[in-house]
Amino acid sequence: MDGAGPGATYQAITVKPYSPTIGAEIDNIDLSKPLSDLELTEIRRAFTDHMVLFFRDQEISFDDHARFGEYFGTLGQHVGKRTNSQATNDLRVRKFHADGDTPRVSGNVWHTDQSCAPVPPLASVLYLHTLPPDGGGDTGFASMYAAYDALSDNMKSYLDGLTAHHDGTRQFGAGTPEADHPVVVRHPESGRKLLYVNEAFTSHINEVSREESKAILEFLYSHQMRPEWSTRFRWEPHSVAFWDNRCVHHRAISDYLPNIRSGYRIQVEGTEAPVAP
Ligand code: OGA
Ligand code: MN
Repeated sequence: MDGAGPGATYQAITVKPYSPTIGAEIDNIDLSKPLSDLELTEIRRAFTDHMVLFFRDQEISFDDHARFGEYFGTLGQHVGKRTNSQATNDLRVRKFHADGDTPRVSGNVWHTDQSCAPVPPLASVLYLHTLPPDGGGDTGFASMYAAYDALSDNMKSYLDGLTAHHDGTRQFGAGTPEADHPVVVRHPESGRKLLYVNEAFTSHINEVSREESKAILEFLYSHQMRPEWSTRFRWEPHSVAFWDNRCVHHRAISDYLPNIRSGYRIQVEGTEAPVAP
């Protein structure tokens, strides 16, 4: 069966790549029910291979949403002091909503979730039930493996051994964590190297002058968002996006206000700090 085309190596679920480098749409699965062992094994494989999984037409309750997240780890809380998401009656689930009264759409800059934390989240699961009627509100996703692989050997050796400071107070106010992480890290499951700086949280590279850091980070930020290794997910009502926060950058696109875009979000705690290769 190997190499027989998309879906050939999966028995329970259907996996359709969303772009050549990142993302896959998963079909033949119902997230409102517990997953079978085979479904879970295949979801894990698709997650490692495609980095962000998209599901359509899922009507899920808070319990369903939380159960899905818990297959991948312990559910966690956002580390920000001031966030746009709102509490619900379930501590595990945050309401993720924007409309005409929203001053600023959350996540409207390329980022990984809370890289300012000493141990950033492993994944987030965003479920949207309401989308703007005329489109908009897509989410960009970019592969930091592909961004790293495409650097020149000279740039790779320059970055080797550098660390960067990630400052959460810039996005989420005083009292939000700050942390240092290697600029290049190795993914704990795939074993692949990837670029681990992002525009939202990384303030500077520690080992070089501020001027040099600024120039290098500007280059890396524009390199990281190149269309060759990014894609744009078009939501429909009741879509779910589940991204690997350890190797994916994502970005909300704020093009729909004052229309409503609304749903719920959970995040899965990381188990280890990002490590240098
Ligand atoms: C998030 C996020 C992007 C979006 O939930 O962490 O950045 O398009 N969302 O809403
Ligand atoms: Mn985010």
